[in-house]
Amino acid sequence: MSTAVSAYSRKNPFPARLTKINPLTRGGSGKETMHFEVSLAGSGLAYEAGDSLGVFPTNDPSQVAAVLAAAGLSGDEHVESAGTTLREVLSHHVTLREPSRQMLAAILEKDPSTAFRLSELIDPEAKSVMDDWVDGREVVDILEMFPGAKFNAEELVKVLRKLQPRLYSIASSPKVHPEAVHLTVAVVRYELHGRKRQGVASTYLADRVDDQTFPVFIHSAKHFRPPENDSSPLIMVGPGTGIAPFRAFLQEREATGAKGKTWLFFGDRQRATDFLYEDELTGWCNKGVLHRLDTAFSRDQTDKVYVQNRMLENAGELWKWLEEGASFYVCGDASRMAKDVDQALHRIVGQAGGKSEQEAAAYVEEMKKSKRYRKDVY
Ligand SMILES: Cc1cc2nc3c(=O)[nH]c(=O)nc-3n(C[C@H](O)[C@H](O)[C@H](O)COP(=O)(O)OP(=O)(O)OC[C@H]3O[C@@H](n4cnc5c(N)ncnc54)[C@H](O)[C@@H]3O)c2cc1C
Ligand SMILES: NC(=O)c1ccc[n+]([C@@H]2O[C@H](COP(=O)([O-])OP(=O)(O)OC[C@H]3O[C@@H](n4cnc5c(N)ncnc54)[C@H](OP(=O)(O)O)[C@@H]3O)[C@@H](O)[C@H]2O)c1
Repeated sequence: MSTAVSAYSRKNPFPARLTKINPLTRGGSGKETMHFEVSLAGSGLAYEAGDSLGVFPTNDPSQVAAVLAAAGLSGDEHVESAGTTLREVLSHHVTLREPSRQMLAAILEKDPSTAFRLSELIDPEAKSVMDDWVDGREVVDILEMFPGAKFNAEELVKVLRKLQPRLYSIASSPKVHPEAVHLTVAVVRYELHGRKRQGVASTYLADRVDDQTFPVFIHSAKHFRPPENDSSPLIMVGPGTGIAPFRAFLQEREATGAKGKTWLFFGDRQRATDFLYEDELTGWCNKGVLHRLDTAFSRDQTDKVYVQNRMLENAGELWKWLEEGASFYVCGDASRMAKDVDQALHRIVGQAGGKSEQEAAAYVEEMKKSKRYRKDVY
């Protein structure tokens, strides 16, 4: 199998099927993280450890119905520009989550009585004010808030943003599962501005795909492949869903009998409910596929403990691995975790390696240049 021979791509996604869904978090967890298995059989699609799966989601029918009700439209209207009905467009082609600036501008035009609030919100000079105000609000909130602004079907579609596919790190190795990909997905559900909210794609996979096919593609991540030399040591930092690609790497190391040492830092909220893939990870420790597993369960004690705390506690050993040529991989939250882990890495190189701040920065920079420090963060 090779991607070169597959007829499927982002432009022509493959209709895949879910073959397995397992909860990874246990009852009592504040989170809902799931394991999905997706069959690629018959697609000709190939992937490599480190790649992601792109998923084109469909909006929740109850959200589509809420938007139609708020807009006073039936859904059966024909949208000329899309060549289909409004319900179809709202279901598959546009996001009902983040309202666009054009939508607000159109509301202002249609219902000047909203001007007292909206004019300053859509003023480019006041962009941050508008961003704060719109933040967390969805299309239905805006339509309900300004009922005086009436859109016909064509106008409504024109001001909505395109629904984008979501990427999910592949949690399986093609050496073990050549015709399937596994995913580790945190299902997004929360309450905000007095309404229950949900992530489009994560709830699509968890609640709505069932036994229907759904469109997918392989997103190649050349920057995040496992090290070419599998005899060299490998350090992986993957809290939360960041574990996904490292499950793929470990499956692959087991399948190929790679000789290099491996060290995984995993973290989540509570050991009892959020230790994703606990049995597999401890199994790999017992088999010698995973040589070190350090966990940080942030909410099992009064003070937060994160993966970077575990790295710092093991600074001497981590530095030794780096000096033996270890590669250092990070996956998961970009906004806070990856930055803090990067800082911890600098501190370790500085303190355990006896280097000045500048020398430590140069060492880490060199790791990046030689592809020994790689990130896939989101
Ligand atoms: C390369 C890559 C790999 C990825 N791998 C994975 C993976 O392995 N597993 C995984 O689960 N995800 C992964 N993601 C993230 C994934 O693509 C989606 O962004 C994620 O599933 C949310 O998508 P959604 O459609 O369910 O939610 P959306 O509809 O996109 O909503 C998400 C938005 O909801 C808001 N939000 C979420 N929670 C709250 C809250 N508590 N309070 C207020 N607002 C909130 C935030 O604005 C957030 O951006 C990856 C992303 C990339 C780019
Ligand atoms: N909207 C938001 O505010 C927000 C923020 C992050 C993630 N998310 C979403 O939540 C879902 C779940 O994500 P996930 O399971 O991958 O991970 P996660 O729930 O964000 O976090 C996994 C672990 O990382 C810890 N953590 C928090 N801040 C950290 C930091 N600075 N450094 C290191 N570790 C840190 C968390 O601890 P604590 O939670 O106990 O602090 C938790 O133990 C995803 O869909 C993601 O997009 C939403």
